Amino acid sequence: MTIRIDTERLRLRPLAPEDCEAHIQMMLDPAVAATLSPTGGAQSRHDLWRQFASYLGHWDIRGYGWFSVEEKATGAWVGRVGPWMPEGWPGLECGWSIARSHWGQGYAPEAAVGAIKWTFDQFPDLPRIISCIAPANANSQAVAKKIGEQKTAETFELWDMSLDIWAADRAAWLARFG
Ligand SMILES: CC(C)(COP(=O)(O)OP(=O)(O)OC[C@H]1O[C@@H](n2cnc3c(N)ncnc32)[C@H](O)[C@@H]1OP(=O)(O)O)[C@@H](O)C(=O)NCCC(=O)NCCS
Repeated sequence: MTIRIDTERLRLRPLAPEDCEAHIQMMLDPAVAATLSPTGGAQSRHDLWRQFASYLGHWDIRGYGWFSVEEKATGAWVGRVGPWMPEGWPGLECGWSIARSHWGQGYAPEAAVGAIKWTFDQFPDLPRIISCIAPANANSQAVAKKIGEQKTAETFELWDMSLDIWAADRAAWLARFG
């Protein structure tokens, strides 16, 4: 299976074993981990290794999953973005996390648009795509707005957080970004 998504500045490909260390380094940053861990702080390398293994397994079980995002100009691994729906999730999500050294360049929205196009293409009957975002996560809300998602009245309880569900309906999204 060769899946590649090219955007203007980025290349997306399925998360792979060789990305493990770069992913752990990104997630050891407390600013990245703030709403992505059960404690609100960085997790141990042990837990992050197991988390990464589950991300690879998600591709095997679901046939889709996180994409590694690479900067075309340098080849640098800058983060993970893409479709994600482990057991018990409230819908097919597009998520995003970018290593802090690469924040603020619009990489998350650029990659998310590529990943959502791919996801809608893979699933012609998918009515909407969601993102689960903590109320305090202003950076992620900014990404959701840029890629045409709107906050719904729905929430998803995860660990001790009540996450807001943001969503984009298929037809409207494809009319704008497809
Ligand atoms: C959310 C995240 C993926 C955004 O990635 P990004 O590539 O920086 O996205 P953007 O460049 O579009 O920036 C989004 C917002 O982040 C803020 N931001 C940008 N650069 C920043 C920086 N260096 N420091 C702090 N905040 C910054 C800005 O408010 C920006 O919105 P604006 O462009 O309207 O001003 C990134 O902040 C991240 O990985 N956060 C930690 C993981 C996370 O929370 N993931 C989402 C879980 S729901």
